[in-house]
Amino acid sequence: MSITLPSNSKMLTSDFIFGVATASFQIEGATNVDNRLPSIWDTFCAIPGKVKGADNGDQACDHYHLWKEDIQLIKHLGVDAYRLSIAWPRVMDEKGEANQAGLNFYRNLLTGLKAEGLKVFVTLYHWDLPQHLENKGGWLNRETAYQFKQYADIVTKELAEWVDSWATFNEPFCAAILGYELGIHAPGLSEPEYGRQAAHHILLAHGLALPVIRKNAPTSQVGIVLNMNRSYAASEKAEDQFACLMRETLDNQFFIEPLIKGQYPQLLKTVAPHYLPTILPGDMDIIAQPMDFLGMNFYTCNHNAYDAEAMFKNVKNTEQVEYTDIGWEIAPHAFTELLVNLHKQYDLPPLYITENGAACADEIVDGEINDEQRIRYLDGHLNAVNLAMESGVDIRGYFAWSLMDNFEWAEGYSKRFGLTYVDYQTQERTIKRSGHAYRALLNSRHA
Ligand code: FCB
Repeated sequence: MSITLPSNSKMLTSDFIFGVATASFQIEGATNVDNRLPSIWDTFCAIPGKVKGADNGDQACDHYHLWKEDIQLIKHLGVDAYRLSIAWPRVMDEKGEANQAGLNFYRNLLTGLKAEGLKVFVTLYHWDLPQHLENKGGWLNRETAYQFKQYADIVTKELAEWVDSWATFNEPFCAAILGYELGIHAPGLSEPEYGRQAAHHILLAHGLALPVIRKNAPTSQVGIVLNMNRSYAASEKAEDQFACLMRETLDNQFFIEPLIKGQYPQLLKTVAPHYLPTILPGDMDIIAQPMDFLGMNFYTCNHNAYDAEAMFKNVKNTEQVEYTDIGWEIAPHAFTELLVNLHKQYDLPPLYITENGAACADEIVDGEINDEQRIRYLDGHLNAVNLAMESGVDIRGYFAWSLMDNFEWAEGYSKRFGLTYVDYQTQERTIKRSGHAYRALLNSRHA
């Protein structure tokens, strides 16, 4: 079983970038070393019932100590680029000063990646907010946006020379809505109006940091990473169509429209004004500055029926479809549609697919992991990207999620997304069949 793209695909040309992605809290472990401060995820993991299996990030993949081996693993997969994130609580102390011990870890890692000829894509915020900032209100406090600007300044001043691409945030939707409105991610708050205010401060932080990053890293690209699912209506009924529109507006448009057009969706003004955050004069101009790229994370689609209270509710697809181990429908056609629709709606900067992948119930048998479903998933979604490009969407790269199995947030270690299997007892890494298939596709480019 292999991953194949049409031989004339633009994705097989030398300027299209293939990579693998990870995030700091999900792989690093070593939460107590080199003056790292506690993050909201350390706190959240310690609350009983919040994370499956009472798992936490104390060990994770022990990447903090195994980074040299992990660079070799990345290299071995034949990719062009590696996407990682920096842990804010490692590199900035409570007074807002640089923590050199934490910065040294990243300096070593980045120089090591560069020495192997890899392109480096860094995300500044992949959800590990320092706990001391959460104690002052976290993303509900506007001041956190200015703290983020300071953090971005420290990091880009120190590390810019090894970084090709900077993303300010990973998935503001998840950080704000899952964290402050639905309570299923750290910090675990669940007030209806909190999510949108947190989101606004995150977008503001992005905008405040942009000019700082451009100044410190004039030759790197700067952008942000959004996650999007394609929304469908459960039926042709007008009320279900409305439910779908609201889902799409609140999950997707709410995040992309301010960034590209400098406004929140107008529909909310009339239909759901309580979802509009408090905005100070000038905020929208700060948020909507031009970006060099937009990162898109895609995993699945959703189906929506009308709900009198919440406006929409999730329903299952009534057709026979396949799901991954995390219960997400496999829908590569939805990926193409989503990308083409965005391209029609917006004047987009170049896109990178910064995450895409599948959770499978992988098992090692005779030293091998035969993750046939993940290979099919990757094949389907890479071809979906190719189709979007054929329809005129400007996509410059694709990152598989993930380099290796890791801490899957509220799911703990129970869900495996890696192209590499991690034995959490021994920290042994074994490349899965999907990893070999990905490598074969990438190597075929040079054949
Ligand atoms: C995304 C996250 C990433 C990973 C995948 C499965 O929402 O950005 O860290 O957990 O989901």
